[in-house]
Amino acid sequence: MAKPLADHFSESLREQGVIPVIVLDQVADAVPLAEALSMGELSVLEITLRSSVGLECIETVAKYDRWMVGAGTVLNRDDARRAIDSGAQFIVSPGLDEGTVAYCQDRNIPIVPGVCTPSEAQRAINMGLRLVKFFPAEAFGGVATLKALKGPFPNLKFVPTGGIALENMDSYLELPNVLAVGGSWMVARPLLESKNFAQIGSLAHFARERVKSARHEGLGSLG
Ligand code: 3PG
Repeated sequence: MAKPLADHFSESLREQGVIPVIVLDQVADAVPLAEALSMGELSVLEITLRSSVGLECIETVAKYDRWMVGAGTVLNRDDARRAIDSGAQFIVSPGLDEGTVAYCQDRNIPIVPGVCTPSEAQRAINMGLRLVKFFPAEAFGGVATLKALKGPFPNLKFVPTGGIALENMDSYLELPNVLAVGGSWMVARPLLESKNFAQIGSLAHFARERVKSARHEGLGSLG
């Protein structure tokens, strides 16, 4: 029997260890970008709705089986509906909105909403969630906050995002309650504007190597 999408998504994300948070201004860049990220072994991609072409980019990439594409910066039910209709296989939000979570749960679409306080973590658990984004990670205490949240919420896993890059990703990956980290550094706007897909591929590759060595050293959320 096929695995439920939520399990398939969280296993793919855990395996990848790092998810690129993408803002695209041109639909024509969507597939070349996804190909560049694939060169670095990143195939689970978050394309945000921060640009006017976000949905179209999701639709374009979703046509290919080789990528698992989700929508980021989903702020409400309508965003979620449009993203899912465009082929998004998972939904990411910067914050926790009950209506958006329920909409996705009703459709069996994995949703990773943002939380950064114990009250939000508790609300997320009471909505039946076991995986949330910790955003904005560095600004809200980073590793120390995640360590503190582990005590009262031992079964909640996080995808810290916001202020994370190659230099500090290890310190997050070694935490048992971190499934993967997120970030935009490998798809930074200047790289996209100059269509420097080779550099994007290299940065993705370095990020994946960092995940592999962290996992090899027995760190991170493998259980
Ligand atoms: C997000 O939406 O997840 C963040 O904007 C990404 O944060 P970063 O740009 O600091 O990586």
